[in-house]
Amino acid sequence: MVKVITYGTYDLLHYGHIRLLERAKALGDYLIVGVTTDDFDKTRGKINVQQPLMERVESVKATGIADEIIIEEYEGQKIDDIRRYGVDIFTVGSDWEGKFDYLKEYCKVVYLERTQGISSTEVRSHQQELRLGLVGEFAMLNTVGQESSYVNGLSASSVYTEDSSRLSKQLKELITEKTYEGFLGDVDAVYIASRPEKHYEQVKQALEQGKHVLVESPVTLERTRCKELLELAEKKNRILMESIKTAYATAYSRLLLLIKSGKIGSVVSVDATCTSLREIGEDGMAEQSAWSSICEWGPVAMLPILQILGANYEEKRIVSHLIKSPADTVKFDAFTKIDFVYPEAVASLKVGKGVKSEGELIVSGTKGYVYVPAPWWKTDYFEIRYENPADNQRYFYQLDGEGLRYELVTFLKSIRMGKDMSYVDKEITAVIAGLISDFENGVDMKTIL
Ligand code: CTP
Repeated sequence: MVKVITYGTYDLLHYGHIRLLERAKALGDYLIVGVTTDDFDKTRGKINVQQPLMERVESVKATGIADEIIIEEYEGQKIDDIRRYGVDIFTVGSDWEGKFDYLKEYCKVVYLERTQGISSTEVRSHQQELRLGLVGEFAMLNTVGQESSYVNGLSASSVYTEDSSRLSKQLKELITEKTYEGFLGDVDAVYIASRPEKHYEQVKQALEQGKHVLVESPVTLERTRCKELLELAEKKNRILMESIKTAYATAYSRLLLLIKSGKIGSVVSVDATCTSLREIGEDGMAEQSAWSSICEWGPVAMLPILQILGANYEEKRIVSHLIKSPADTVKFDAFTKIDFVYPEAVASLKVGKGVKSEGELIVSGTKGYVYVPAPWWKTDYFEIRYENPADNQRYFYQLDGEGLRYELVTFLKSIRMGKDMSYVDKEITAVIAGLISDFENGVDMKTIL
């Protein structure tokens, strides 16, 4: 039996792919198709691939041409596969002519003529570029502008700001002179990173004008207002996503899957700490531009707790050390600790901008624990530790754009498919807004001096 193998991305499966597969199959008796996981197009420096891996695998399967489908996950895998499956012929399209000659040592290499006039790139280019408007005053918008340039099909087209002092030169060039309403008329979707107390009005107006919204967490400072906005998005058939980039960082999302698969047994405790000192002066006052500790770090620290243990905690207690902010319009906490009690577990978070601590995440289970070193919210690495250190496992991942890049990709995909594909459940979004709301209103809260 002659075994043939071929590899490809097979995004938006087209006629060129099918012809290639047919001819590859005709070279022998058994065809193995390797679908690559890689969605980052190195030559173009963009995330180009539109369909998730499983959809691409399904499309190849649906052709009925492949006898076996495998996933290509790492560099150097082709040699392994050829040996493991006893492959006789390796084949790809002529656009790769010469590139795989090094495999001739292991099997026959055949380059098949590429079908003219069609490619995934061409199919993708017929889709319109999404115009993303950026709203707000914070430096994080510069990163959003930069990261959006890595996402194919999306471009930062306009900026609406009330204070441009922290914005980059590139973003300054995009600032509109128009009113917020006029600005909304020029874009398809918005990313909002203004002060949290402005979110409600800005999100509402954007949704009412039919725009999709990605808004820095917390969505609002008020539980009922957050619910109202989520309902409005649903009524208007628009995507409303809360931006917490950690949720999209590869290491973090893999960690959740490993915990859910029972690697550390039942989870009994989750402890998350996030601190940063830079925006508190010597006098202990917060800078004008600073977000309170709970607004800046609360949602990130709440994320693993709510995603691992769920949204239905039975009790919580907030302890805060409050200081003055020059604007004095917001309740400013230099430090806040929240303890949660669940029916079968506990959790705690510590956030601070006037207190420094080790920014680690520890998830304790009945068989072992997960340790994520500081700064855990942008980690590319974590460990699963057991009683016997010889059983410990270390996990490393690539961290592109601290998760923000994949968050933008998810936002774009959700808009294109008309279906919310956010990694943060709407129930969790509502609970986060609820917890911030309780802090604002002093519910279950104690202050320390
Ligand atoms: N292929 C082909 N004819 C085409 C397009 C692709 O024979 N018109 C072959 C490629 O040479 C490769 C396989 O199909 O062996 C999978 O190609 P892939 O890179 O997934 O698709 P492209 O359409 O080439 O994608 P892109 O435009 O992103 O490069």
